Amino acid sequence: MTPTNAPALYESKLRSLPLLARGKVRDNYAVGADRILMVASDRLSAFDVVMREPIPGKGELLTQLALFWFARLADVVPNHLTGDDPESVVAEGERSQVRGRAMLVKRLAPLPVEAVVRGYLAGSGWKEYTATGAVCGVALPAGLRNADKLPAPIFTPATKAEAGAHDENITFDRMRERVGPELAARVREVSIRLYERAVEFALARGIIIADTKFEFGLDEQGTLTLMDEVLTPDSSRFWPHESYAEALREGRNPPSYDKQFVRDWLEQASVDGRPWNKQAPAPTLPPDVIAHTAARYREALLRLTVPAGNGPD
Ligand SMILES: Nc1ncnc2c1ncn2[C@@H]1O[C@H](COP(=O)(O)OP(=O)(O)O)[C@@H](O)[C@H]1O
Ligand SMILES: [Mg+2]
Repeated sequence: MTPTNAPALYESKLRSLPLLARGKVRDNYAVGADRILMVASDRLSAFDVVMREPIPGKGELLTQLALFWFARLADVVPNHLTGDDPESVVAEGERSQVRGRAMLVKRLAPLPVEAVVRGYLAGSGWKEYTATGAVCGVALPAGLRNADKLPAPIFTPATKAEAGAHDENITFDRMRERVGPELAARVREVSIRLYERAVEFALARGIIIADTKFEFGLDEQGTLTLMDEVLTPDSSRFWPHESYAEALREGRNPPSYDKQFVRDWLEQASVDGRPWNKQAPAPTLPPDVIAHTAARYREALLRLTVPAGNGPD
């Protein structure tokens, strides 16, 4: 990919299309009745709060990485891409707002669950395991450490929370009640297959995908379709392979490519002399935190998409 080096975009403002919704990261516009223009802004959310400063380049990096994976995983399950050019549906003067950072997709009926797959024990999975010995009702062997590899990838669904709320881990049985048993089984099977394929690919490029979240929808024919973004640092935990073993031995979180750096900074940040309460507004991100975060996103994309030997390192 060639980065456009466009100025940071905190919020798109397209007048030629009706705005459907602004998510934490993406602005969705209706294109007729059956398509959506998804514009990935440079917003960053952490602890489900949107930061007030953009991360330059982030929207474009997310979009390019998602497109990269959609192409590589297209044989596993259909995805929402239409193949149409996002710049073709906006006014001439608005093209710079969508260039490199947008996807023109089929408008789907989203399933009310997030399809999370974990190959390693981290984050909310690790927390649940230490409390109960299981994650989302999936029992795991005793004695696992933080960041340990699981015997096999597990499917641990979550509810898709309304705006402002936090997603909540649920059991597979709860998911069956929400979407029906056949669809639940198919989503689980497809998600694990997508994850396994991505893991194998990423490992060859020095990245461990510890876990990831997929979203699916149904098209007009009822076909299960992969949507949203896939396998980006926003939806996944990426660890550099070379520092994994040492982190595991020392009981630390591996230095991830995702938002962990910002989260760690936010955990020690204070607002008016008190620790931040994780409610909006977020503390002001200092320039070095912004720059470091932008660099982590860039490095993830380069590592994954540029074969070894051709990269900058
Ligand atoms: N093909 C699609 N059809 C309908 N909705 C979609 C499609 N792809 C993604 N979405 C939805 O668009 C939104 C993307 O914006 P995002 O900023 O990620 O929102 P959120 O704050 O909900 O994570 C999500 O709510 C996602 O579920
Ligand atoms: Mg999202």
